[in-house]
Amino acid sequence: MAEPKIGIIGAGGIAPSHIEGFLAAGAEVVAIANRTVSKAQSLAGRYAIPLVCSSLDEMLAKAPLDAVAIAAPTFMHAPLAVQALRAGLHVFCEKPPALNAHEAEAMADAAARSGKVLMFNFNNRARPEAQAMMEFIQRGGVGRINSAQAAWVRQMGIPGYGGWFTNKKYAGGGAMIDLIHMADLALYFMDFPKPDYVLASNFYNFQHDEAFRSDYGEQIEAESSSGGGQKAVMDVETACHAMVTFKTGQCLMIRASWAEMVERERASVTFQGAWAGGTLERIFSTQGGPLVADTTDGFGRAAADNGKNSYIDRCKLFVLDNGKIIERSLVFGAGQDDMGRRANVANFVKAMRGEARPLNTPNQAVRLMKIIDAIYESAATKQPVSVAG
Ligand SMILES: NC(=O)c1ccc[n+]([C@@H]2O[C@H](COP(=O)([O-])OP(=O)(O)OC[C@H]3O[C@@H](n4cnc5c(N)ncnc54)[C@H](O)[C@@H]3O)[C@@H](O)[C@H]2O)c1
Repeated sequence: MAEPKIGIIGAGGIAPSHIEGFLAAGAEVVAIANRTVSKAQSLAGRYAIPLVCSSLDEMLAKAPLDAVAIAAPTFMHAPLAVQALRAGLHVFCEKPPALNAHEAEAMADAAARSGKVLMFNFNNRARPEAQAMMEFIQRGGVGRINSAQAAWVRQMGIPGYGGWFTNKKYAGGGAMIDLIHMADLALYFMDFPKPDYVLASNFYNFQHDEAFRSDYGEQIEAESSSGGGQKAVMDVETACHAMVTFKTGQCLMIRASWAEMVERERASVTFQGAWAGGTLERIFSTQGGPLVADTTDGFGRAAADNGKNSYIDRCKLFVLDNGKIIERSLVFGAGQDDMGRRANVANFVKAMRGEARPLNTPNQAVRLMKIIDAIYESAATKQPVSVAG
């Protein structure tokens, strides 16, 4: 395949990272669509994208494409992906895969029928330290992972407060489904075992506290209603804690929060294997300012700073060697602050060219969404939920 031709759907907060990823991977971004055309025009100007559209329909009619990247709100993922796959295009779709497992199954089914690549932006799998950790696990360095703990916990930062992110109808849920990355990464390390039971609780603290708002995500009601009357819907959890058991006897604990009294924002997966353990984490500055000296990376090095946020990455293994527990650090240089987003897009481009295996698959997305569905059901019913399939 010559330079693959890509269309971007959605011109909001995450879209620039898709465009930059595709350009860096040697693809051509030939079109961009957004419900409000002015937003697409602005990104088209910035990245010299020749065609601006208001919808996928218009894009399909006007642009010869090999693939689309879906950077629209979650409720549009399944309809847009199914339409694009049926039109014979490869699809790169943002996380979470869909509103629920039923929609994710429809997407997986459309991908299987079309024979095209459907891949999700589980960018954290593409981080170099995640790939190194996975290689170590696959080489048998850890043994079976007995138990893992996935957490993305944040003190203050409810995304798009009052917009689509905080509206269950459009987002599928709150912190748990939005901060899905670490649960996905833990399942990846565990080789996606078959889930058995889920037990979960949702929390709704700080839901309407202005201090906890962050400013990304579109005000969807305001834009779609003809009169522009904004409805600040906030009907999702600000934190969720869950436990998943698997038919294999393994287990996974997941914590996700947009607003919770934790020490600082942290995204991590920790696991205990049959003969070794490991942890991979990013510690963020609390309010975008620099991290203080108490959180150096264990080697006394300062936190990396990408101009907006500062952070420290740690990736460690705990192994038994000659009767002693040895702590090993996987050390990576600076410049990884996009959390694997470019590398994930590069993998998708290679996968659609048949040059690499996709880093994630539709069936994995379905299994993950079944767990998310069960988490929400358990939180709502206050009962353990058996996960089908
Ligand atoms: N991988 C990551 O780390 C990461 C980070 C942020 C957001 N995301 C995901 O990316 C997606 C978009 O998030 P965002 O922050 O960019 O949201 P956003 O609200 O900033 O932007 C979404 C854009 O999509 C447009 N849109 C809605 N329906 C459309 C349609 N049918 N056709 C074309 N355009 C449409 C909206 O007008 C808006 O401009 C979400 O699924 C979110 O979870 C992923």
